[in-house]
Amino acid sequence: NLPWYTSHLDYTFKNSMEVISDFVRTWTAEEDQHSNLLETYLLVTRNVNPTRLHELRRRVVESGWFPDFTNPLATMAYTSLQELATLVFYNNVAKIASPHDKDLATLLRRLAKDEALHYAFYRDTVKAHLELDPNFIVYFENVIINFSMPGAVMPDFNDRMKTIAADANYGPLQYFDQVLDVIVNYWDISNLQPTSEDAKQSQANIMKYHGRLKRIKDRQLEKNKR
Ligand SMILES: [Fe+2]
Repeated sequence: NLPWYTSHLDYTFKNSMEVISDFVRTWTAEEDQHSNLLETYLLVTRNVNPTRLHELRRRVVESGWFPDFTNPLATMAYTSLQELATLVFYNNVAKIASPHDKDLATLLRRLAKDEALHYAFYRDTVKAHLELDPNFIVYFENVIINFSMPGAVMPDFNDRMKTIAADANYGPLQYFDQVLDVIVNYWDISNLQPTSEDAKQSQANIMKYHGRLKRIKDRQLEKNKR
């Protein structure tokens, strides 16, 4: 669905600094390579029905992608989460795939390296803004609490996620430990000292959400042990 992600980023960062528009163009080229590589892999290894793949792609691109935020800072926070989630997802699937399909594992780990750089750029931009002014946290609340992957517009997305959680090492437990918790700690959200009432409320809401997901995760781990 790259055309829509690109159009969102292009719109959001219009008239931003040169470094941002350079980054968005490089990002687009790299994500385009990723999707081509994954599609080529599926086709040459005969792991996909080409007709179904092309129908699905058409449906997804036709449905577009319209997130409920257009503020540049909110977008930076969203892409931080999304890039880290993608990075973790590729590495976790590579780990499970490795004994069965070395080439797939190598391919996914190679893509994960690009994702690590995408993630670092967005993550550090957000961090720099929070250091300038912790009141910027108001722009992150909605994005963090309502995060869902851009691929969520895909048909049968929840069924696909269940399969991946059960068989491919990436589900809600990993999302908390390896994505949300990592970012909340990196941005040091619990120790920010915002001055505006709105920002204090956003900080409290994010930490409440983080705590709730942690309790759900702990309960799930207990259940798994039993
Ligand atoms: Fe990426």
